[in-house]
Amino acid sequence: MRRYSGKVRRRTILVLGLVALGVVAAACAPNATQSALEPQGPYAQKGYDLFVPVFWVAAAIFFLVQGLLVFFAIRYRHRKARTDVPPQVHGNTRLEIAWTILPTLILAGVAVPTVATIWDLAREPEGDVLQVTVLAHQWWWEFDYPEQGIITANELHIPTDRPVYLTMCAVGLGYDKQIAPSSCQEQPAAVGDSVIHSFWVPELAGTQDVIPSRTTFLTIQADDPGTYEGQCKEFCGLSHAYMKFTVVAHDPAGFDTWVAGQQAPSAVPTPGGPAEAGVGVFLANCTGCHAIAGLEDANGNPITANGGPDLTHFASRECFAGCMLETTDENLRRWLENPPVVKAGSWMPDYGLSEQEIDQLIAYLNGLE
Ligand code: CUA
Repeated sequence: MRRYSGKVRRRTILVLGLVALGVVAAACAPNATQSALEPQGPYAQKGYDLFVPVFWVAAAIFFLVQGLLVFFAIRYRHRKARTDVPPQVHGNTRLEIAWTILPTLILAGVAVPTVATIWDLAREPEGDVLQVTVLAHQWWWEFDYPEQGIITANELHIPTDRPVYLTMCAVGLGYDKQIAPSSCQEQPAAVGDSVIHSFWVPELAGTQDVIPSRTTFLTIQADDPGTYEGQCKEFCGLSHAYMKFTVVAHDPAGFDTWVAGQQAPSAVPTPGGPAEAGVGVFLANCTGCHAIAGLEDANGNPITANGGPDLTHFASRECFAGCMLETTDENLRRWLENPPVVKAGSWMPDYGLSEQEIDQLIAYLNGLE
């Protein structure tokens, strides 16, 4: 055995090194706030309250089993002096009954609160509930407020202390805006970019898959005003990692102010300025996918969004492009120059806009508060 000891020592050092690296990497997670272990609302709290006891049960079993394993491995290890074969023992009815019944009881003990929590979280909340429709696109989130007549993107604004019931569906470029997402199953399923996503704001709720042709539901609620980071949690293509969003929780009065701002018509640019020229650039290039309330096409029909975010109040949003970019002139310029370079696989192509056209579009978009 001696000739192996150098190899074993090197392997031990390697394993310890990897474990240490893992610990260090975990400690420098860039976004410490995006943690399900710090619930900020009652629905996330329910998941956490289930997690804690299950974790300690699992931890106790882990240390018991691993402890016994190490103890027996040392106690009955091979010794040089011992050359005879140890007595072979087979079968012990009492022990076997015990190690069948005990895990069954433990698993049942874990299953009861787990199933109860699943049912509890799946129930539609009653009373004063805010209804929001969530449409998952490749790769950004659309949030529609049917009762308020608001459509926004990548920023879900909610009031504090009020349940928000999300009705969710994954849609593709060719989805039918006329079909309510509650009848998501009637949406064409296999349109290129219509794939499974998953909605996750760790501090406010557990995860819920968002699926083409099938409606799913999730309730979120925040205790305090603030911004909570969310993201798509199911691999959904090239820019999955950039399919982020934020949940902005306001106190009730602040939420009403936000709603009023979003319901107001978008600003009309000053005549003669670059922003007004930007309207022309927008109409010529962007209306195949994007809409801005108040704009009309050449035939006088209102423009509807088709696959791209509704930009009516673009400037009120802190981020864009699936919340991958902060809303700044610099980022807008980078984006408009060549979207797929910034965000791999972006369905928005490079339109070959001139610097002047980009300036005009930025001026227009900046006015849309
Ligand atoms: Cu959408 Cu991952």
